[in-house]
Amino acid sequence: MARGLRLVFATSLLLMLLGFCRGSTIGVCYGRNADDIPTPDKVEQLVQLHNIKYLRIYDSNIQVLKAFANTGVELMVGIPNSDLSAFSQFQSNVDTWLKNSILPYYPATKVTYITVGAELTEAPSNVSASVVPAMQNVFTALRKAGLHRKIKVSSTHSLGVLSRSFPPSAGAFNSSHAFFLKPMLEFLAENKSPFMVDIYPYYAYRDSANKVSLDYALFESTSEVIDPNTGLLYTNMFDAQIDALYFALMALNFRTIKIMVTETGWPSKGSAKETVATPDNAQTYNQNLIRHVIDNTGTPAKPGEELDVYIFSLFNENRKPGLESERNWGLFYPDQTSIYNLDFTGRSTVDSTKANVTSSNGTWCIASSTASDSELKNGLNWACGAGNVDCSAIQPSQPCFEPDNLVSHASYAFNSYYQQNGATDVACRFGGAGVRTNKNPSYDKCLYITAGSNKTAANNATSAPSTSSSVQIGFPLWISSCLLLAFLPFS
Ligand SMILES: *[C@@H]1O[C@H](CO)[C@@H](O)[C@H](O)[C@H]1NC(C)=O
Ligand SMILES: *[C@@H]1O[C@H](CO)[C@@H](O)[C@H](O)[C@H]1NC(C)=O
Ligand SMILES: *[C@@H]1O[C@H](CO)[C@@H](O)[C@H](O)[C@H]1NC(C)=O
Ligand SMILES: *[C@@H]1O[C@H](CO)[C@@H](O)[C@H](O)[C@H]1NC(C)=O
Ligand SMILES: *[C@@H]1O[C@H](CO)[C@@H](O)[C@H](O)[C@H]1NC(C)=O
Ligand SMILES: *[C@@H]1O[C@H](CO)[C@@H](O)[C@H](O)[C@H]1NC(C)=O
Repeated sequence: MARGLRLVFATSLLLMLLGFCRGSTIGVCYGRNADDIPTPDKVEQLVQLHNIKYLRIYDSNIQVLKAFANTGVELMVGIPNSDLSAFSQFQSNVDTWLKNSILPYYPATKVTYITVGAELTEAPSNVSASVVPAMQNVFTALRKAGLHRKIKVSSTHSLGVLSRSFPPSAGAFNSSHAFFLKPMLEFLAENKSPFMVDIYPYYAYRDSANKVSLDYALFESTSEVIDPNTGLLYTNMFDAQIDALYFALMALNFRTIKIMVTETGWPSKGSAKETVATPDNAQTYNQNLIRHVIDNTGTPAKPGEELDVYIFSLFNENRKPGLESERNWGLFYPDQTSIYNLDFTGRSTVDSTKANVTSSNGTWCIASSTASDSELKNGLNWACGAGNVDCSAIQPSQPCFEPDNLVSHASYAFNSYYQQNGATDVACRFGGAGVRTNKNPSYDKCLYITAGSNKTAANNATSAPSTSSSVQIGFPLWISSCLLLAFLPFS
């Protein structure tokens, strides 16, 4: 009896943890400001083909909602700024909208978020004044329909909400926006809704290239930026911008609000002056972003914190005004071919669903510079033992023995294990002691194996599974890290 109870308890605890520990997710924004993009039915097929599970749309278009019925794809739908006035004034306006635009398609179409207004700090102040009343009315309408726990209400922001973002620990909201931000933050905290932000290292780099390195913006930096107040080290701008927001929230004592990135990305083409808007940079940014997010590493200020991110955007949008880059944020051409390859699972090096790879020459796995000696030793022993790696090259007088130190030997062994086990993020984890790199670490006569090299015993394993590449693959790993986190306080 007692045993049965314990089992029930353990099971419900596990279920509870599963609820908390869903893992970070990657979605895509589906902007439709274009006259040449495919119909929603075709887009639905494209989204499924590429294993995209989360989609943000900017309105509640009926064709789109219908197209994604019974697909399992989760939709974030938007209420445009132009509707805020009407939505804030009368509850009945919102009730009618919910009844006509969402409820007929729900729950076949899985709507999980409603964004009320977008980037209001860029809008006239009388529009931003309407946003919180409109959010409250949307919440009330959902509650009447019994959906206020299943569909979260929030609003998206640009980084213009901050008056200061560097160093991250000095992050602060611009007090000019306090008149609507303060009540909004109270609403979010009360209803456990995330703070939604659009983050664009591209603009930060473009507008101050002399202060910021491209590598830092692209998650490729080999050096770190230190926050002098906290000592936290930043290797990329994305993390720094997110932490600036966390610190701004903490400064106002909103410690429970989570951040969600509702847009980020990199344009593949720009005007003559926008020299870094290239397909290579766009691919690098987005692929590194996906790996970073799926890994659940969190940010320096919030290590291990889950972060849901939407990449902007599915298609190039040819009707957008502004600079050339504005019309070139897409991942796909109108004929649904990829502008560049991207693996939305972050788990294989190659997107094998379409086209062939032109610009990736491989990745390697090496020891992290921040790992401790004992972590490295454990990883090394494991790789050469249970991991089945051929470690003869790091024995005395063999080509990879020198330099005779733990970092070098662990790097060699980590990489061999990684290459022989599908070259996935998971295969380079080693309890956090492994990091992936796209620079070949080979030197002199010490040759690190690569996915295609002769030495890879398990060539079968390295040809990444193309169809089974759903995000679920990461399941056991993030569960274990979640469990670990959850149980630590008890032990
Ligand atoms: C905001 O002000 C503009 C111009 O002053 C006006 O046209 C618009 O109707 C106002 N909007 C609201 C929601 O009051
Ligand atoms: C704060 O917002 C106001 C109004 O948009 C703007 O004029 C001001 O420049 C902002 N301050 C900073 C430091 O960004
Ligand atoms: C790339 O794909 C195209 C069409 O699928 C094919 O014709 C071409 O040979 C491939 N190129 C390489 C380098 O594999
Ligand atoms: C890939 O390798 C080829 C041949 O070595 C080289 O020309 C090309 O620049 C490399 N591409 C990248 C992205 O490193
Ligand atoms: C693969 O092995 C063959 C014969 O064993 C050798 O000639 C060739 O150079 C090797 N290729 C690479 C990339 O190591
Ligand atoms: C790899 O595949 C070949 C046939 O394609 C098979 O004979 C071999 O046993 C496989 N090796 C492993 C390690 O699965």
